[in-house]
Amino acid sequence: MAEQVRRDADAETEAVAAAVGDANHATGGGDIAGGPSVGAAASSFRGEAGSHAGETLLRVEGLTKYFPVRKGFFGRTVGQVKAVDDVSLTVRQGETFGLVGESGCGKSTLGRCILRAIEPTGGTIRFRERGGTEVDVRALDKQGLRSVRREMQLVFQDPYSSLNPRMTVAEIVGEPLVCHGVARGSELRRRVISLIEMVGLSARHLERYPHAFSGGQRQRIGIARALATDPGFLICDEAVSALDVSVQAQILNLLRELQERLALSYLFISHDLGVIRHISDRVGVMYVGKLVETAGTEALFARPHHPYTEALLSSKPIPDPRRKAERIVLSGEVANPANPPSGCYFHPRCPYARDICKTAAPPMKQVADNHYAACHFAGELNLRGAL
Ligand SMILES: Nc1ncnc2c1ncn2[C@@H]1O[C@H](COP(=O)(O)OP(=O)(O)OP(=O)(O)O)[C@@H](O)[C@H]1O
Ligand code: SF4
Ligand SMILES: [Mg+2]
Repeated sequence: MAEQVRRDADAETEAVAAAVGDANHATGGGDIAGGPSVGAAASSFRGEAGSHAGETLLRVEGLTKYFPVRKGFFGRTVGQVKAVDDVSLTVRQGETFGLVGESGCGKSTLGRCILRAIEPTGGTIRFRERGGTEVDVRALDKQGLRSVRREMQLVFQDPYSSLNPRMTVAEIVGEPLVCHGVARGSELRRRVISLIEMVGLSARHLERYPHAFSGGQRQRIGIARALATDPGFLICDEAVSALDVSVQAQILNLLRELQERLALSYLFISHDLGVIRHISDRVGVMYVGKLVETAGTEALFARPHHPYTEALLSSKPIPDPRRKAERIVLSGEVANPANPPSGCYFHPRCPYARDICKTAAPPMKQVADNHYAACHFAGELNLRGAL
């Protein structure tokens, strides 16, 4: 598989060499093949990989994030956008938890709240550090947060805007190591080379700037940077959405391989059901700030228990030119998170709605092993899955 990672990166390298006319880019297969394998590089970073497999790594309970809606000259608060509304979920060691839902349902806000890149309004976030200690992320002071952020990292959606165009690859990947005081001098160089080889690039790429790389290669650089502090948990927010389909597959394969080698856990955010199905062990479906269904991937796709999940699975994505990606489009108007409907937020669009749905919010119910749905009739409806 490590060989496949290098071949994929080579293919991208050659494609971009042609595009930018840089003769040095046309590396050919032998250029990178001399580097250490992913496994060799990984072992120097995470000696204890896999020792806590299956244990809960992240436990989020009742998480909320309300953004104020302001109006007028004085910016008076006139309401609140309930971007994340009472969400509870767990991510286990070594697993990929996929988060899916329409645009604006709160996926990115949830991911950023977990990292405290934005401050949650309420709820708890517990994270098990590598040593085994569980920390209350919301209670951490600045220094504690800095330390926990070495272990939780974000992989951004857009590799074109997330890398500083004025920094070389060596500086981009090495910056977190310098910032956290992990390495400098020759040790820094050694670590940066290991990281860049781990993602299928080579030391020859280190002195180049982001513009000289293809989208897929930039995302590899972004992943190398995210891995610099040896994290156990990555939040990948639409990490492959801006890439062409063939390159998406290569980056997904890379993420899978890194996960195996480094015992990583992922919260993988995407609006793309195909990507979510491909990479996730378990899936959570969000609607207007709320988690409405969670289940193992196959169970969720084969036998959904929430009408919104059924609607998502039957939707046809359409291209979104703003984002060079696709968008899920369902019939009916998506609810406004600043003024959500009464009862079940999905009731105005739900073909199964009855009177109770307009007045009472449905609680999350267990419908099978590891399968939960927030619908008054979960377990009673015979909903259609995807093929
Ligand atoms: N800083 C902010 N101030 C006010 N409202 C915000 C802010 N950030 C997000 N929101 C609102 O919160 C809701 C959730 O947004 P979020 O970006 O988390 O959705 P998303 O599921 O990631 O969407 P997408 O698929 O388009 O990335 C949206 O209604 C959005 O307009
Ligand atoms: S609670 Fe009612 S409106 Fe909501 S998803 Fe279930 S059937 Fe539909
Ligand atoms: Mg988002």
